[in-house]
Amino acid sequence: MKLDPRAHSLCTALVIALAVPSLQAAAASRDVNLDESKVGAYELPPLLKLDDGQPVRDAAAWQGKRRAELLEVFSREVYGRTPGGRPAEMHWAVTAVDRAALGGKAVRKEITIWFTAKKDGPKMHLLIYQPPGAAGAHAPWPAFLGLNYFGNSSVNADPGITPSQAWMRANADFKIVNQRVTEGTRGVHAGRWDVENVVARGYATATVYYGDLCEDRGDGLTTDVGSLFGTHPVEERGPAEWGAIGIWAWGLSRALDYLQTDPEIDGQRVAVHGHSRLGKAALWAGAQDERFAFVISNDSGCGGAALSRRDFGETVAIINTSFPYWFARNFRAYNKREASLPVDQHSLLALIAPRPLHVASAEDDTWADPRGEFLALKAAEDVYALFGKRGLGVTDWPAVNTPVLGDGLAYHVRTGKHDITSYDWAQYLDHADRALRRGVAK
Ligand code: GCU
Repeated sequence: MKLDPRAHSLCTALVIALAVPSLQAAAASRDVNLDESKVGAYELPPLLKLDDGQPVRDAAAWQGKRRAELLEVFSREVYGRTPGGRPAEMHWAVTAVDRAALGGKAVRKEITIWFTAKKDGPKMHLLIYQPPGAAGAHAPWPAFLGLNYFGNSSVNADPGITPSQAWMRANADFKIVNQRVTEGTRGVHAGRWDVENVVARGYATATVYYGDLCEDRGDGLTTDVGSLFGTHPVEERGPAEWGAIGIWAWGLSRALDYLQTDPEIDGQRVAVHGHSRLGKAALWAGAQDERFAFVISNDSGCGGAALSRRDFGETVAIINTSFPYWFARNFRAYNKREASLPVDQHSLLALIAPRPLHVASAEDDTWADPRGEFLALKAAEDVYALFGKRGLGVTDWPAVNTPVLGDGLAYHVRTGKHDITSYDWAQYLDHADRALRRGVAK
């Protein structure tokens, strides 16, 4: 049983009802702290000091040296090394276009991207909605890009979206039993994508099923994109070989490769976003790939935006035990030894500087440590300051439903559970109006 005291939407009501008491007992026996008064003291590793001890005094020293040092640590110790970029033989085809989708409110496009020359090799399916109107009138559109959990057809009830044929994780809500699914998940996450609203605000929104890239299970590492790079089985990997989060992040960059060639999309103004485990992947993609103009973390928690040293909610030991294939094997060396990590997650957020970054939490999502997500963002401010960005402009954790849209950085914590809601989207869109609109200073 996965150790998670949070009753999030991936569980069924029945499973929750039966499992919560035992999960809490398990949590207690494994020292999961959910009591703010019990969080111990910790010290974050410095951002503005080079490995040789020299201070980082300006943006040039950060960009020229420190950034590379921190990327190297995350690659070696946390997520594993990304073994390559865009494959030479990667190619794509637009497979369907409907210029009157969603009752005329959007254009829907579907693109298949093959990672090799072979049509039966690893590939992914990209779905794009963009505002209607002839290309050229308002285009190219700035865009949001994120991975989805249940196939492209899960993001909207639109009957025109081609359903996924790929393997899906079991989910009793959607009647999935570790199988290949076609129709079953249509529209199930429409609320999490808010497509109509995003398009109405003048943005394109693009998505790929994360299971096209790496199935969310240990065995997934050797299939799909993993197979392309000869990734070893989870326990046979080299200590710094990548895991699922690295593969998902790689796929986001490949989707951006396509978006940068689509004449109707402004490839310089693409936001990468993700929820929970896919929020971890979005942050890692945004940290590595500076082409992403704006990065959004929705409830990404441990291994995402939350500080590992802060002993609250999910820990490094728990995540490595529950999901041994998400991170590099090296990361396990820090199980119960977070203080010896040469980085913490504020360093990951700082790697996004000076590009706009938005971190969001949910009040009831204690597993993800909302306050720890805020504190990591706050600590990343020092690097934004090197670029003349004022950062959040607040010192204390803001009250719920009181978003802070600062200079370069934004944060909000809303009421409710682990999820993406229209409230979250409203904040991201407001931030995007500032960060991604043409003619508006970033
Ligand atoms: C689990 C896991 C989290 C993760 C979440 C999700 O709860 O412990 O780290 O963020 O699943 O992806 O929904």
